[in-house]
Amino acid sequence: MARRKIVAGNWKMNMTPSEAVKLAEELKPLVQSDSVDVVYCVPAIDIIPVVEAVKGTNVAVGAENMYFEEKGAFTGEISAAMLKDAGVQYVILGHSERRDYFKEDDALLNKKVKKAFEAGLTPILCCGESLEQREMGVTMDWIRFQIKSDLVGVSADQVASMVIAYEPIWAIGTGKTATTEQAQEVCKGIRDCIAEIYDDATAASVRIQYGGSVNAGNAAELFAQSDIDGGLVGGASLKPDFGKIVNYQ
Ligand code: 13P
Repeated sequence: MARRKIVAGNWKMNMTPSEAVKLAEELKPLVQSDSVDVVYCVPAIDIIPVVEAVKGTNVAVGAENMYFEEKGAFTGEISAAMLKDAGVQYVILGHSERRDYFKEDDALLNKKVKKAFEAGLTPILCCGESLEQREMGVTMDWIRFQIKSDLVGVSADQVASMVIAYEPIWAIGTGKTATTEQAQEVCKGIRDCIAEIYDDATAASVRIQYGGSVNAGNAAELFAQSDIDGGLVGGASLKPDFGKIVNYQ
């Protein structure tokens, strides 16, 4: 069975609640699609108003992060159950900005991935290499390490239902997109890694996005690759252009 494409916006730390509702309203007619899953991953404070704003549309809402503990004395954190109760379906985990600026490591991310599944959320697990790692020729070793450690104890059925986003760090917010060949090569490498850890059916089912300067001009070519099942979009998800990315065909 062909995998359904999934195009997700990562709004990062942009949009106040009122701006978020305005953007969701503006994008509403532009992101309609019968063939592509559309997700807005929004700042925590925007979740409730955006869930309300997209009610009755084809858009699902995601969070940009969560904590792995059930509840309690973790000032400033948000639990998986809180997200689920607010109407969230997806959660980005392990974005390079969180790994880098907030020092999230793979042991922590593994706990977060497992907790997300336990709460009924679909993780969008990010991985990707730095420019230095690419130049050293260790891209795939690094990404395999990330995937393998983040998925310890995660079942084949869970992996089959999740989303993995390949985001080369050097292509994020730089306007420098990976070439179609580079993006396809790594996305295929990730699928091969899943086949090795699990099996072919799981690898054939997991959806793998490319992220890093995706825009209305390059989406069609990237998404046409056999192992690229859509995109995780930063800057261009805050503009009407996002509608063109969703409707790239
Ligand atoms: P840009 O699309 O702005 O490069 O961001 C990509 C990204 O980090 C999505 O998670």
